[in-house]
Amino acid sequence: MPRWHGKDDRRTMARHASETRPTTPAVRARGLRVVRGGRRGVVVVDGLDVDVPAGQVVGLLGPSGSGKTSLIRAVVGVQQDVTGVLEVLGLPAGDPRLRRRLGYVTQSPSVYADLTVRENLRYFARVVGVGEDRVTRVLSDVDLARLSGRPVGQLSGGERARTSLAIALLGEPDLLVLDEPTVGLDPVLRRDLWALFHALASNGVSLLVSSHFMDEAERCDRLLLLREGRLLADGTPAELLAATGTTSAEDAFLALVEGGPR
Ligand SMILES: Nc1ncnc2c1ncn2[C@@H]1O[C@H](COP(=O)(O)OP(=O)(O)OP(=O)(O)O)[C@@H](O)[C@H]1O
Ligand SMILES: [Mg+2]
Repeated sequence: MPRWHGKDDRRTMARHASETRPTTPAVRARGLRVVRGGRRGVVVVDGLDVDVPAGQVVGLLGPSGSGKTSLIRAVVGVQQDVTGVLEVLGLPAGDPRLRRRLGYVTQSPSVYADLTVRENLRYFARVVGVGEDRVTRVLSDVDLARLSGRPVGQLSGGERARTSLAIALLGEPDLLVLDEPTVGLDPVLRRDLWALFHALASNGVSLLVSSHFMDEAERCDRLLLLREGRLLADGTPAELLAATGTTSAEDAFLALVEGGPR
């Protein structure tokens, strides 16, 4: 089972402070537009207005090609041709001060297959500027201590996904952005990873997680539903069920994607 042990005092204090004053959203977008494909490109995120609240697990849903990865890339500051307002933890997206405060797991995990789990983590620990203690800690948090000496090329899909997650956790990020982190994982591993996400959120971390799994949608504190680069819905799972008169996230998703205004 993944664990998240030990509370960071700084975060605990921040959470107490947040009870008395409004917190900055983890992500704030106003009129956000992303064009992909260069000069003759297409608008793939189209006039998005959204606040992702801090300290919650927010799911990003939408059909394939709806713009989830493009939005995520804009949030982490690697996407070109982004216009409008996009603030991350109160700073402009891409600001160098966000480097340590943001963890990102890409849709196709980028880990070195010929290095062991620990060697991968050591390499990225150098990039982020953290030490061996932190490497050992995140290996334990994602339950990979036992496999730390194994080359990543000899891991299962789930173990490899947890290696990527461990790398994203190295810098103790305030915002964790995960693009389909549970693809190819069995239900038990998916459940365990979601338990870890919620443990992180209860420790003050904000999470933005894209997914195609509707059981995962039901595990989110809030959901954002994209279609063709526009926001179709933004609310808690219960609110989306009530608004669509449905009883499952899957039915709500289908009702919104197929029935929403075009
Ligand atoms: N490099 C690119 N050049 C041009 N268009 C692109 C490029 N990358 C993505 N697109 C287009 O942008 C749109 C949004 O793609 P994006 O990857 O953000 O979707 P997604 O919601 O993450 O999809 P999936 O669920 O399949 O991962 C799609 O129409 C896609 O074809
Ligand atoms: Mg994608």
